[in-house]
Amino acid sequence: MKKVILPLMALVMLASCGGGTSTDEKAATPVAEKPKDPAYEKGLALVAQNDCLTCHKINEPFTGPSYSQVADKYAGADAAKIKEIAEKIIKGGTGVWGSALMTPHASLSPEDAEAMVKYILLLKK
Ligand code: HEC
Repeated sequence: MKKVILPLMALVMLASCGGGTSTDEKAATPVAEKPKDPAYEKGLALVAQNDCLTCHKINEPFTGPSYSQVADKYAGADAAKIKEIAEKIIKGGTGVWGSALMTPHASLSPEDAEAMVKYILLLKK
């Protein structure tokens, strides 16, 4: 009997220890993964100062596509593509993600609009 019970007890103890460790790792992950690119901070601040978040959420579609969807679609975008997306934010538009309309943001400078696109693209999972 003893020979069976001892290994069983050891297994139970191992299982409960293992569970505790993985919970700790999960809690620490979001901070560790935050990108350190300077464009991230600048773009994030600009997105927060403008009206972007009235139509966009980071992780779920709202009036517009979620920013993580946008980041997936344009993963690996070159400078020309980033410029094109920035121009769309300034001019507004529709038709790429559905029939909802993005209002124009005519007062934005091209530099600021590009910084926001760079920030959005860094949200790729
Ligand atoms: C009135 C709602 C609204 C606001 C405000 C808004 N957007 Fe949008 N945005 C949309 C919609 C709707 C789309 C999808 C357009 C389409 O399907 O072509 C979109 C698309 C985008 C895209 C993807 C463009 C593409 O062609 O794939 C980016 C990037 C973006 N928005 C960034 C921003 C930023 C940055 C701001 C703030 C300056 C902003 N949006 C403000 C509604 C909005």
